Amino acid sequence: MNNKRIIIAIDGHSSCGKSTFAKAIAARLGYIFIDTGAMYRAVTLYALEHGAIVAGIVDEERVEAMLADIDIDFRFNSQRGASDIYVNGDLVEGKIRTIEVSNCVSAVSSIAAVRHKLVAMQQQMGRRGGVVMDGRDIGTVVFPDAELKIYMTADAMVRAERRFKELTAKGDKVTLEEVYENVVSRDKADMSRAISPLRKADDALVLDNSNMSVEEQMAWFDAQFERVAGM
Ligand code: DC
Repeated sequence: MNNKRIIIAIDGHSSCGKSTFAKAIAARLGYIFIDTGAMYRAVTLYALEHGAIVAGIVDEERVEAMLADIDIDFRFNSQRGASDIYVNGDLVEGKIRTIEVSNCVSAVSSIAAVRHKLVAMQQQMGRRGGVVMDGRDIGTVVFPDAELKIYMTADAMVRAERRFKELTAKGDKVTLEEVYENVVSRDKADMSRAISPLRKADDALVLDNSNMSVEEQMAWFDAQFERVAGM
């Protein structure tokens, strides 16, 4: 068994189960799981709560000016078996996945200064290896030398249905159409933005999980990991 603790970069479309998959892999390997989308959501939430987003319009200069006041950290929650995200010491895990944050996060994540700050934090968190990091630019920008890169995708309606179930289970009043629109528009925004757009790294393996169970995805992963890490 090879004990080298590698970097596993998982990129892909929104709502295709990247976090669930990444979390399961991290638990299996005893690696740290880092949800970088949560970091962009946390900045968006802060901007919403501090007047830098009004009626859905993001004031980029104000967001940039606020960055120095935003301190993000992750703390392990043993009940959830994953880390919770905190902003300036406040637990925001439950507040960052609303449709309001989802609707503004693509605009916030296209601000260069936001990316600059968060990418530097992510590189710092992953520098020792033994991490599974999920996002949009992990294999292309954050860790271009990651030993294992996975590009996840799934049919847009399948993704919308999954996210709709999650949101309604939490009591959010949303329609499937609204969630579908958000999924499609975020795909478009993430793939067409000028800085670090979502794209498959040349050396990434594609995992389309439209018709795959979590168990099937894990079996697929085990085969890839064995090949790369020589387990
Ligand atoms: O993974 P998620 O849906 O929670 O991510 C929220 C948004 O954050 C997504 O629409 C794009 C942005 N994001 C990004 O630009 N780069 C990342 N590494 C992760 C997320």
